[in-house]
Amino acid sequence: MRLTGVSKTAILTLRARADEHRRRDSVFADPKAVEWLSKLEWPRELDFWYTPRVSSFVASRAQEIDDLAGAFAHSAQRASVVELGCGLSTRRHRLAGAISGRWIDLDLPQVIAARESLGDHGAISIARSVLDRSWLGEVRALEGIDVAKTLFIAEGLLYYLQRAEVDALFRDLSRTFAGAAIIFDAIGSADYKGTLRVSSSAGTPVQWMVPPPFDRIWDELGIEPIPGFEPEAMMRAAIARYFRRYGRWTIGFLHGLSRIPALAGLRSGVVYGRLRPLP
Ligand SMILES: C[S@@+](CC[C@H](N)C(=O)[O-])C[C@H]1O[C@@H](n2cnc3c(N)ncnc32)[C@H](O)[C@@H]1O
Repeated sequence: MRLTGVSKTAILTLRARADEHRRRDSVFADPKAVEWLSKLEWPRELDFWYTPRVSSFVASRAQEIDDLAGAFAHSAQRASVVELGCGLSTRRHRLAGAISGRWIDLDLPQVIAARESLGDHGAISIARSVLDRSWLGEVRALEGIDVAKTLFIAEGLLYYLQRAEVDALFRDLSRTFAGAAIIFDAIGSADYKGTLRVSSSAGTPVQWMVPPPFDRIWDELGIEPIPGFEPEAMMRAAIARYFRRYGRWTIGFLHGLSRIPALAGLRSGVVYGRLRPLP
């Protein structure tokens, strides 16, 4: 089975989670990722992009988002999750038991078809572009969907869209789901050039970055911080998590740098908050 265009990037993140599972010091177990990866053809054009550093980074990001989703589920009984650009995400399996509401997967038709042929049938699947907004009303109308208990996850998705498309997507999300929670990641200026280079080498260039300071993205996309998960708190937790494998001196050094606002503003990161109602 072959995925083409931007959808082949889903195999890169799948491989990172499968490799994480196999590590002796792995931060999560993901046997489903190992199983699915063994059934897929590896696109050779991802070779240059897929380095040990990228693999660790993608696994750390998956773990960060798992933990945030777990915290959300803990705070909201019968939470539902909508994974936008779900790719070959195995999060539903990793979080089995934590999410008792609906689980909805949305991605382009070829990806949803790949998930089905891999035998993944437990979620509600929407085989459509996130840019075709018909899905919003359909998800809103699903039985068991409570806006305040709904979490959207867009991991590794938004920078493959145009920035104007992302702005419009968030406006429509806020119109239909104000008060729902959302987790997404975005690329800051320090990582942009390198990511553009490797993503272009695979034929799937990223389209935009957040100009410094990174935390402007909260306001620009209309995201309200959740107490305990403010941008500053998330940045500190991320440094400790992502650089775990480099030892405490590196972590201490990065914490030092993060206290210099001009440098902290160059970072990339994961955002977790609630969609503000439109003014
Ligand atoms: C890097 S992969 C991330 C997959 C998954 N979220 C993960 O972290 O493993 C990017 C995914 O975004 C999907 N994607 C890109 N553009 C999309 C669009 N317009 N609508 C829906 N999905 C899209 C791709 O098909 C691909 O599965």
